Amino acid sequence: MLTGFYAPKPGGETIFTVDPRPIKFGPGAVRELGGDAKALGMSRVAVFTDKSVVNLVPTQDALQSLTASAIACAVYDDTLIEPTDQSFMAATEFVRADGFDGIVSIGGGSVIDTAKAANLFATHPVGLLNFVNKPIGAGRQVPGPLMPHIACPTTSGTGSESTGVAVFDLLSQQVKTGISSRFLKPSLGVIDPEFTYTLPPLVTAATAFDVLTHAIESYTAIAFTQRRQPAEPSLRPPYQGANPHSDLGSLAAIRLGGKYLVRAVKDESDREARNAMMYAATMAGISFGNAGVHIPHAMSYSVAGMIRDYTPEGWPQHHALCPHGISVVVNAPAAFRFTGPAAPARHLEAAEALGADVRDVTLEEAGEVLASKMIALMRKAEIPNGLQDLNYSEKDIAALARGAYQQQRLLTIAPRTVREEHLVSLFQDAMHYW
Ligand SMILES: NC(=O)c1ccc[n+]([C@@H]2O[C@H](COP(=O)([O-])OP(=O)(O)OC[C@H]3O[C@@H](n4cnc5c(N)ncnc54)[C@H](O)[C@@H]3O)[C@@H](O)[C@H]2O)c1
Ligand SMILES: [Fe+2]
Repeated sequence: MLTGFYAPKPGGETIFTVDPRPIKFGPGAVRELGGDAKALGMSRVAVFTDKSVVNLVPTQDALQSLTASAIACAVYDDTLIEPTDQSFMAATEFVRADGFDGIVSIGGGSVIDTAKAANLFATHPVGLLNFVNKPIGAGRQVPGPLMPHIACPTTSGTGSESTGVAVFDLLSQQVKTGISSRFLKPSLGVIDPEFTYTLPPLVTAATAFDVLTHAIESYTAIAFTQRRQPAEPSLRPPYQGANPHSDLGSLAAIRLGGKYLVRAVKDESDREARNAMMYAATMAGISFGNAGVHIPHAMSYSVAGMIRDYTPEGWPQHHALCPHGISVVVNAPAAFRFTGPAAPARHLEAAEALGADVRDVTLEEAGEVLASKMIALMRKAEIPNGLQDLNYSEKDIAALARGAYQQQRLLTIAPRTVREEHLVSLFQDAMHYW
């Protein structure tokens, strides 16, 4: 029986869906890649990676495993970190130019999302904005299946190997946006924590906070029962709101993050912590891929899209960029203060799962307690202190809010209604925290 938080509402949704793809998890998993590709009918694959991941030992192991299974590989390592509409199209050309029967992606979210987009547009050749969510794009549905795709994440972050989302920077509008469809979900996720042993500290921290925000945002999203029932089943959105299935993975990921995030950042030889963060990323990816994320991610899309002069250590230095996890977590404490009153019990449970002492805390304080715990973790992991450390000032707030307000797909699953003036206050609060 669905009761309490999930009690039925008049006219509200009564059904949630779980649409998972298989995953394989564990140290050494990529050394079995050849057999996995063969089982999916692949014989000639486009291997997406990036200029630094291509040189890692597990990547070479993965390529060797494919070759040993007589699978021809053409490597594309020109992936742009924090991809754009232009870089998606360049990758699409690579796939179109040859007769591939499968896609393998080995990299962080930038690589996996690029592979998803190249697979999509090589299979269904239409203009990129056709499948982009409204109001930025036309919001058309992807018409059918793509080539099989095996995704091998190398960061403990995005969970993109499980999601039907590909995120990119739309250069003309200085905003990040995404394409979402169940057909974008990779056919198989091969998740090998050994990749994470080479992640530099700030990349470990940024990607770990992406995991935590995925999990906390999914857990604090509106209940799926609060959405209206769709006129027909095909109109049920991929982001359904919190549901009993997503809750399991979200809470597991929050607990793992609370215990291991700082250890993984501070000590690159702490394999227990790095393996645990990879599993947290996996669990959070499965959960937010079906529940959705809300305000911190909606705000991040303009924070990343408008960045001017920030070049953090651990990422390519030739152009300014704001790593995804950083662009999200700088908004998180402000957002949780705002959403706390709408779902206090959920915020308190999330704070407790993160490791906060909530014994004497009242429900009125739930948002603030969760925000404070996040801030404490950000300080320990040496994350930038809010938007000011990304070189934003008060003058940028109106434009940041305008960009974030366009992310209606995400804002509508926040636990309370979000207006543009709310976003202005939230960005003001996110300027600095300590
Ligand atoms: N599709 C989704 O569901 C989803 C979800 C969240 C974020 N995203 C998107 O994913 C992108 C961010 O991906 P990310 O955070 O995984 O990082 P990333 O792919 O952008 O990589 C970050 C940096 O780490 C390096 N790197 C990657 N793996 C490494 C390893 N094992 N050892 C050493 N260096 C390594 C990369 O070369 C790069 O310089 C953003 O564009 C974001 O919007 C997508
Ligand atoms: Fe994210």
